[in-house]
Amino acid sequence: MDKNISFTLKVWRQRGPKEKGHFDSFQMKDIPGDTSFLEMMDILNEQLVEEGKEPIVFDHDCREGICGMCSMYINGHPHGPATAVTTCQIYMRRFNDGDTITVEPWRSAGFPVIRDLMVDRGAYDKIMQAGGYVSINTGGIPDANAIPIAKKDADEAMDAAACIGCGACVAACKNGSAMLFVSAKVSQLAILPQGKVEAARRAKAMLSKMDELGFGNCTNTRACEAECPKCVSISNIARLNREFISAKLKD
Ligand code: SF4
Ligand code: FES
Repeated sequence: MDKNISFTLKVWRQRGPKEKGHFDSFQMKDIPGDTSFLEMMDILNEQLVEEGKEPIVFDHDCREGICGMCSMYINGHPHGPATAVTTCQIYMRRFNDGDTITVEPWRSAGFPVIRDLMVDRGAYDKIMQAGGYVSINTGGIPDANAIPIAKKDADEAMDAAACIGCGACVAACKNGSAMLFVSAKVSQLAILPQGKVEAARRAKAMLSKMDELGFGNCTNTRACEAECPKCVSISNIARLNREFISAKLKD
């Protein structure tokens, strides 16, 4: 059984995208170590509601590392101090009695704050709409083994497809670049025969939308890779750049 901990929680409060924000501090007492981070936020919100105060707005859905909604910047790390997990997969036993835990929203021009810890990640949807799909007419469903795919290619495509679109890569990047996200989405299709045909066009369209939406450029700091909860590799960015150059040469 994990020990209970008491700590100070500093949370970013902001009433809207154009409002000035500030930190509110809360004294959290005797929180069991096996409480998840989001459950701890639920406990705080229940207290706030009981006291007639505004609960803290934050995004969540699956609470099991799948949906990518729980975008919290905890103690200077997107998704908190643990590696390869999302905010919803962090448990309070990771923190110490007497700690101060600071929680902020993603901070990026591409992800404006809606309220408190909730940001608008609709820019990712727009990038996907620009080309993150296969548009060739493939006819009926083929036999599963009709197109042989090398195990290495299947593994690489699956690793890229692990991206949950959470936005931690953008939040971690000093340039606010979405290159890791875009490269994962381009790679998961470009490696497979069905997606290869449109790979160059797709890379060009998605990168151009990324630029248009105000995300920055990649300068290879690898902060995105270090903070990605799904361990998406920056080798995907090299593939994205190759596809982009290929599209430019075709132009
Ligand atoms: S690449 Fe990683 S950090 Fe970026 S959106 Fe995908 S899962 Fe999140
Ligand atoms: S709530 Fe779905 S990944 Fe955290």
